[in-house]
Amino acid sequence: MAETREHWGSHIGFILAAAGSAIGLGNIWKFPYVAGKNGGAAFILIYLISVFFIGISLVIAEILIGRKSQLNPVGAYRKLLKGHRGWTLVGYLGVFTGFIILSYYNVVAGWSVGYFIEGVRGSVLSFTSSEEAADFFNHQIMNPAWIIGYQAIFSILVLAVVYFGVAGGIERISRILMPVFLGILLILVGWGISLEGSREGLSFLLKPNWESVNGRTVLEALGQAFFSLSLGMGALLTYGSYLNKDDSILSSSIMIAFLDTLIALLAGVAIFTSVFAMGFSPDTGPGLVFCVLPAVFSKMPGGYAFGLLFFLLLTIAALTSAISLLEVITSYFVDEKKWTRHRVVLGAGLIVFLVGIPSALSFGPMRHVTVFKRTFFDFLDFLSSNILLPLGGLLMALFVGWYVKKTSILEEFRKGAGGWVDTHVLHPVKQIRHKTAFLTIGNVWFFVVKYLAPVVILLVFLYSIGILS
Ligand code: PFF
Repeated sequence: MAETREHWGSHIGFILAAAGSAIGLGNIWKFPYVAGKNGGAAFILIYLISVFFIGISLVIAEILIGRKSQLNPVGAYRKLLKGHRGWTLVGYLGVFTGFIILSYYNVVAGWSVGYFIEGVRGSVLSFTSSEEAADFFNHQIMNPAWIIGYQAIFSILVLAVVYFGVAGGIERISRILMPVFLGILLILVGWGISLEGSREGLSFLLKPNWESVNGRTVLEALGQAFFSLSLGMGALLTYGSYLNKDDSILSSSIMIAFLDTLIALLAGVAIFTSVFAMGFSPDTGPGLVFCVLPAVFSKMPGGYAFGLLFFLLLTIAALTSAISLLEVITSYFVDEKKWTRHRVVLGAGLIVFLVGIPSALSFGPMRHVTVFKRTFFDFLDFLSSNILLPLGGLLMALFVGWYVKKTSILEEFRKGAGGWVDTHVLHPVKQIRHKTAFLTIGNVWFFVVKYLAPVVILLVFLYSIGILS
């Protein structure tokens, strides 16, 4: 029920929670290895273009649908377009995607918890060579008890936060963890840059190699932008539904996308400076931060402490994102089925954990089981990042651009004003200028959502399946 719906305690609380959702394994674990695999700077440039020209506009659109409807993804589509029930399928697609992502997200987050806990106990993070670190990693991820055990511990952490609700759980934990996260990351960046030989890492991030770019790279960059911004499945929509009417959607969205991108780039600097300084290869794949970094840390004076800090950082990042994935599922059952939050959290948490087990095992006992030539884990990751999220984003853009009344969308867009300045204190002439500028921004944004975003996403889809190539 809209009138009893919980809301964020403060605007900054919302920004930190939404940025916490966006900043996650996608930034620190995935971005470096996908960029490393796709040639570095050229991929990063395409990624930045995707975020700037498409991502930000869709972040605005998604938060806007949430705030306007004050509901979960399924309810939101139903409410905003009464009569066209087909659109609720987009909401269901979002809840389903959240389910899938969370199932394998818990697995990688579990590795991180495992490295941290065992690091504290003194049994990992000390290696004499990268081979030894890689052997350790491969040995651990093949061990069902280790991998499922830590997956379970991480899942319980996620449940515990969401159990306490929006302001009392998610907002409170984000307010504490996000500053800690930033502090640790900055220490690691400073450390990486100070290493001898770090320049090579920086030039890998800055000098594009266009030969390695093809349609596939563009799809991966776009998919990575969606994944990293938590876009296209209703996480931002759900968080937006708890946003107060007098907070600006425009400035919040820009802030969230800016923080997310900044953190991905900083993580890239911290990781590639270390990787190159120690003479390792950037295209190691998903094990990059788990195989290479511990070996790097082992070679450095004081490296053990930095290693621990790094895995703590990764765990925090994963936690603030995983809670947003579980919140999407929770809000759906609470709004639509009228279940209590506590019941949904426990039930959904358990089911997601069970669904994640084949992904956890796909590095060990199930590594030969393939779906479309990929292991279970890789298949779910590819399906969700590169297909389901962009598809969800495409349908959402079509919904906002073509099916809901433009005036009602722009009216919601304007609520909370620009958020840049307090318009009331401005001179009347300046107020008019400010208003005009804001109207123009609204129209440009609407144009991007209505035409540019759908066309680009469609072209990238078609190109990557070879129709246009
Ligand atoms: N944005 C998160 C990350 O970069 O790790 C992952 C994610 C969270 C994707 C929430 C989608 C989502 F709805």
